[in-house]
Amino acid sequence: MQEQQFEDLKKRAGEESSKADSLNSLNEIKAKFVGKNGEITALLKGMKDIPFESRASYGKNVNALKEEVSAIFVKKEQELKAREREDRFKKEAVDITLPGKRFEVGGLHPLNIVRNKIIEAFSSLGFEVFEGPEIDSDYYCFQALNIPKDHPARDMQDTFYINDNILLRPHTSPGQVRTMENKKPPIKILSPGRVYRADDDASHSPMFHQIEGLVVDKGVSLCDLKGLLDEFVKLIFDEDTKTRFRPSYFPFTEPSVEVDVTCCKCHGKGCGLCKNTGWIEILGAGVVNKKVLEMSGIDSEKYSGLAFGLGIERITMIKYGISDIRTLFESNVKFLEQFNRR
Ligand code: PHE
Repeated sequence: MQEQQFEDLKKRAGEESSKADSLNSLNEIKAKFVGKNGEITALLKGMKDIPFESRASYGKNVNALKEEVSAIFVKKEQELKAREREDRFKKEAVDITLPGKRFEVGGLHPLNIVRNKIIEAFSSLGFEVFEGPEIDSDYYCFQALNIPKDHPARDMQDTFYINDNILLRPHTSPGQVRTMENKKPPIKILSPGRVYRADDDASHSPMFHQIEGLVVDKGVSLCDLKGLLDEFVKLIFDEDTKTRFRPSYFPFTEPSVEVDVTCCKCHGKGCGLCKNTGWIEILGAGVVNKKVLEMSGIDSEKYSGLAFGLGIERITMIKYGISDIRTLFESNVKFLEQFNRR
């Protein structure tokens, strides 16, 4: 009779637990049998009502039953855990054959790459950087550079005026004046920045970038300018690049020169880039006009100066073989990416 009852109980525990589809439901079933108020726990509690002589065997049997039923639960629990783990693995599975997601990294604009290279080259020659204002007065942009009102040289830089006296600077040369007014020689500075002119075609943009260079010291001459620029072009282009000076005119330098370099594509032989001349113009320069030194408060008997002004766009276009300046301002990622290949 008791044996049958135990067998039934074991059978039910097996049947019910086999239906459990999660650890939670198994725990509920477990509680029904071996929990605090479970059936088997009740059997153990009922031991006190069993006649003394059969108590020992009763206790043994209930304990055996409890062990067997517990074993059923343990087995089921392991099964459920294994299944849950498998389900989780399936859900979290990663297809390692899929191509990875590319992480896009930004890069410097070609104009900034070249600007940094130019500044680096001149820094290695002892130059410091000074940035002047983009909106400046007629005095700094023209008069202090020996370009009086109505001077024809103003036409070369047809300009954006804010009023009669204030304008978007057409070149970085006002940086020369501002430096000389504030610094005593020896002076060796670079003044980079944006400049503005009413120009717009494949090689001119209404906004572009220049770097002005200025050296003021005792006894500097055109020879020093030649030596300085020879060194500079080797750092920016190739080791074998040569320079050539052609006479030119700027009101703020005397004498003035235009500086050409041997074409970086054909190395002087002649090609489409240099229009078959073997040479490419890269900048304007000269010995600072004594009048400009004097107007900025520098004794022109004691000191002399060198100045040069280069267009960053122009150097960039020559260096990378870019034929239309506008591509530098269109923000086309396909174009810009080429300069930042790692
Ligand atoms: N400011 C001149 C220009 O923009 C360049 C230049 C600078 C020439 C310094 C001589 C000396 O064309």
